Amino acid sequence: MKQRHIGDTEVSAIGLGGMPMSIEGRPDEERSVRTIHAALDAGITLIDTADAYHLHADEVGHNESLIARALASYGGDTSGVLVATKGGHLRPGDGSWTVDSSPAYLRAACEASLKRLGVEAIGLYQHHRPDPSVPYAESIGAVRDLVDAGKVRMAGISNATPEQIRQAREILGDRLVSVQNQYSPAFRSSEPELALSVELGLTFLPWSPLGGIAQAGELGSRFAPFAEVAAARGVSPQQVCLAWLLARSPLVIPIPGSSRPETIRDSAAAVDLTLDEGELAALDRA
Ligand SMILES: NC(=O)c1ccc[n+]([C@@H]2O[C@H](COP(=O)([O-])OP(=O)(O)OC[C@H]3O[C@@H](n4cnc5c(N)ncnc54)[C@H](OP(=O)(O)O)[C@@H]3O)[C@@H](O)[C@H]2O)c1
Repeated sequence: MKQRHIGDTEVSAIGLGGMPMSIEGRPDEERSVRTIHAALDAGITLIDTADAYHLHADEVGHNESLIARALASYGGDTSGVLVATKGGHLRPGDGSWTVDSSPAYLRAACEASLKRLGVEAIGLYQHHRPDPSVPYAESIGAVRDLVDAGKVRMAGISNATPEQIRQAREILGDRLVSVQNQYSPAFRSSEPELALSVELGLTFLPWSPLGGIAQAGELGSRFAPFAEVAAARGVSPQQVCLAWLLARSPLVIPIPGSSRPETIRDSAAAVDLTLDEGELAALDRA
């Protein structure tokens, strides 16, 4: 498996997004564990999760607990796996997503994530989404304090504007290592955030890189050049999409979501697909 960096840590160039295993449409635990084990077998050492990846109000942290159990039951060495979680989003149980980025809430959320993951320090803790009712500097200041208290090893931000990326960098300094924003063939408006992350040496983690849970399967039919390159190379359009994202910069690490061993195996293989200039240009225009 090819490697890339998040801060000082080497991880697989493709990560596993945990969300489809814990929200609407999720599979049973047995299939989820097989999916996580398939990712580990394929050499994946980055797993993205969040305390808010759950369905019902009384199961906050469903995805974190699932990942902790799957790591514990894996036969091989998992010491090199970076579990990247997030705080600041909530799911009240009615299908909606709400936010709370008050420092007190983030401190409590981090403590709860530490317990669920069963670690002394969270490898990468990402501020999930700006909360309009809390000054951004206050939320990011709380994340800085969590790093300084040793609860978190590296900090990330998500759903941030270029201005917020600069502000977070100022507050967190070298503690800030990553930016996670939506980016896919269907959603390219995070282009400025991607460019700024690369300029600042921050790893960029495109979320919903295949267009999201509901539309990932139709990537080839919605964006013809991805299907054409896929047919010519004998691979899936999703694999072409991930190879296209990897080609954007050595600082890009896509985190495709998965709920089946087959899909994460196919996604992991994208690290070995090198697209040529002509193919990349056609995909850029798609
Ligand atoms: N920071 C944020 O605000 C935020 C928001 C959304 C998501 N995220 C993170 O980003 C991750 C990825 O986003 P996402 O899960 O929403 O969407 P996505 O990665 O664009 O799509 C996920 C779906 O793609 C399918 N898939 C994956 N690899 C495939 C392949 N090689 N061939 C065919 N289908 C494939 C999976 O199907 P199966 O289920 O059948 O395996 C899965 O349900 C999430 O899991 C989460 O960790 C973060």
